[in-house]
Amino acid sequence: MNPYRAISQPLASANPQDLALLPALETYQRGLPADAYTKFDYWERERQTVFSHYWVCVGIASDVPNPGDVYPTEVAGSPIVVVRDRNPSPSSATSPLRAFHNICRHRGLQLVDSPCNVSGNLRCPYHSWTYRLDGSLKHTPHFGGYYQDSHSGFARDRNGLIHIRCEQWIDLVFVNLSGDAPPLSDYLQPVSERWSVYDLNLLRRESREITLQCNANWKLATENFSESYHLSWVHPSLNSCSRMEDHFNFDVGAPHVGQGSLVYKSGVLAGRSLPTFPNLAAIKKQTVAEYITVFPNLMLGIHPDYFLVFLANPLSPDKTAERMVFYFVGDDAMTSENKALRHLPIDLWNVTNDEDIAMIERMQVGRQSPGFDGGCFSPVLEQTVYRFQQAVAKAISQ
Ligand code: FES
Ligand SMILES: [Fe+2]
Repeated sequence: MNPYRAISQPLASANPQDLALLPALETYQRGLPADAYTKFDYWERERQTVFSHYWVCVGIASDVPNPGDVYPTEVAGSPIVVVRDRNPSPSSATSPLRAFHNICRHRGLQLVDSPCNVSGNLRCPYHSWTYRLDGSLKHTPHFGGYYQDSHSGFARDRNGLIHIRCEQWIDLVFVNLSGDAPPLSDYLQPVSERWSVYDLNLLRRESREITLQCNANWKLATENFSESYHLSWVHPSLNSCSRMEDHFNFDVGAPHVGQGSLVYKSGVLAGRSLPTFPNLAAIKKQTVAEYITVFPNLMLGIHPDYFLVFLANPLSPDKTAERMVFYFVGDDAMTSENKALRHLPIDLWNVTNDEDIAMIERMQVGRQSPGFDGGCFSPVLEQTVYRFQQAVAKAISQ
């Protein structure tokens, strides 16, 4: 079987070796059972494995640009808080990012409930325990009796905020709850290598972003992002500029999966278009868009003129919060006269998301049926979804 037959036309002008195409599946494979999308037991197992032992993207570093900035978020329902400390680290001029479990060590109150900047320390509103931005416990008022800040036998140094391993890649903040994952740079190496021709230092963040909530399991959102098989029927406007047949699946190294399109047209308004990454013509990427699903729940898209970050944050087995953040290429892209151009892809993603969510939520409904047997995958067009599900199955069995 020719694995490229379904996408033979555009690939005739591209070198499959350059694209590192994923080979077709050798047999028809079945998917994860319905319980993986509906049951709390499975969700709990995912929280202990997928969302604990792997790096998980939890937010955007430029959401906490200044010392004292604090940003509460969560990892599959576990509350955490990202903090920009006030003291620069010895190895760099910038103030370090820290992440903690977002709970007061006294009686477990959620310490921070909204993004803010703290001028001094983090203070719990319940009994006013106070923590420095490095997480250490500073004050425990009246803990040892009226006007006694402490009590014999109370180990202040063992009751600071609980640190979580935290690292940054471009503008993305990742945490590893278990603390035993390989270094983030190793984990993301297939991604940074694949996209090494793009100068990601040129990325500039757009203030407009997209936030959504969908009534479906987080895996359905990532699976949907990983295949283009549905394009013709679900996304007529997208399909008119980049057809299903223009897409290809590529090997980006487990547990991540990738797909792309050989046809991408930058938006044009009044004869103007946005700046693109340099040297794309020389490396034959001037019309190529690529998408990588970074295991487990981060989706990235690179286009000649913009970069997409798509976070699928699991809230429960059947609820997912989605956030899309957009970056454009260089300072010239960010001028006010380019605002309408920057909004073109965001508008298109708004339409695309609505179309996708309608399908995703109906797949969630379908998983309530005793007739659902895991479904099956196109061996040629849905290897990415199969590989993603295999990565989940492997992770939860560890
Ligand atoms: S729960 Fe935070 S001070 Fe009591
Ligand atoms: Fe879609």
